[in-house]
Amino acid sequence: MPKRLLVTGGAGFIGSNFVKYILEKYGDIEVVNLDKLTYAGNPDNLKEAEDNPRYTFVKGDICDREIVEKTAEGCDCIINFAAETHVDRSISDPASFIMTDVYGTYVLLEATRALEIPKFIQISTDEVYGDAGEELSREDSPLMPQSPYAASKAGADRLAYSYYVTYGAPVVITRCSNNYGPNQYPEKLVSLFVTNALDDQVLPVYGTGKNTRDWIHVLDHARALDMVMNAEGLEGEVFNIGTGTELGVLEMADLILEALGKPKSLVEMVEDRPGHVRRHAVNTEKIRSRLGWKPEVDFKQGMLNTVEWYAHNRWWWEKIKSGEFKEYYRRMYAGLQKQ
Ligand SMILES: NC(=O)c1ccc[n+]([C@@H]2O[C@H](COP(=O)([O-])OP(=O)(O)OC[C@H]3O[C@@H](n4cnc5c(N)ncnc54)[C@H](O)[C@@H]3O)[C@@H](O)[C@H]2O)c1
Repeated sequence: MPKRLLVTGGAGFIGSNFVKYILEKYGDIEVVNLDKLTYAGNPDNLKEAEDNPRYTFVKGDICDREIVEKTAEGCDCIINFAAETHVDRSISDPASFIMTDVYGTYVLLEATRALEIPKFIQISTDEVYGDAGEELSREDSPLMPQSPYAASKAGADRLAYSYYVTYGAPVVITRCSNNYGPNQYPEKLVSLFVTNALDDQVLPVYGTGKNTRDWIHVLDHARALDMVMNAEGLEGEVFNIGTGTELGVLEMADLILEALGKPKSLVEMVEDRPGHVRRHAVNTEKIRSRLGWKPEVDFKQGMLNTVEWYAHNRWWWEKIKSGEFKEYYRRMYAGLQKQ
């Protein structure tokens, strides 16, 4: 078990949930969080950890070799969550995705080699597979990313693998499906729809609304990563993480509106985004049989708890939605034709 963990991007949605989970579960692990605090990084996500003597926050960019090496010194595991993550933004601004997601991962891998860090976990995504078609994507399925985000993540995923093959770097790669839960920046589907519905604003649904995703509660993801972190002998391996609960965007909108007692008329069908993947769905037999992981959160209950969290934590998202977000939202949705 690692004693000093470097988490990058730990002020974001999944990273912050993971950091809190680890600090609470283990009394003897120190966590260092290196985060640039982009628009998506939010110190409010880690309020509970701030005073924990085993938690250190470092503001910095994973593309900055000096700060990365300084921060990684003495750590025995790096988990790389840091990334630009929103598909829509990657369509209008691919450069920052290529920089952080690919080059930033390269800098971290170099530090892993230079400092001989015993373990490096690359948080990849099921988006790297592109459209699953009729089959579930397996770890050895071809990577056919369809957005600059997915392509950048695929680049980082394979770069990490190449460091294992070429230099023997102790790399493990995980590819998780769509996460939902508390502290998700409200540009992503679930957090956007829930917070819009709470404000009686429309829920913009792209295309037919039939595009499906596999949904996982962020704590089930954290539990899977905890197992990957603690297991021995996984170097060079890839693990899919997902639940098998597939739901279309329109079905998700209906579920949220029903949970909040809001009318279905809040749904607004808008023109599709370019390259929109019809279906992401992963085969998770490997992580289940090799590590004994399985999801523990019931989907309906997990979604109800999530909706409740946003309803009770307006202070968290109202701040975000009143800032830069307003301009982003206008840019993204104002010009779209209603369908
Ligand atoms: N959200 C999902 O459903 C999902 C699914 C599978 C995989 N992932 C992957 O999980 C990771 C975390 O996703 P998330 O949804 O929590 O993202 P997020 O956008 O909420 O958080 C990303 C974090 O990375 C930080 N960051 C960005 N650029 C940085 C840089 N150059 N240097 C240091 N920090 C930087 C941001 O400040 C932010 O705190 C990402 O790698 C993403 O690709 C996400």
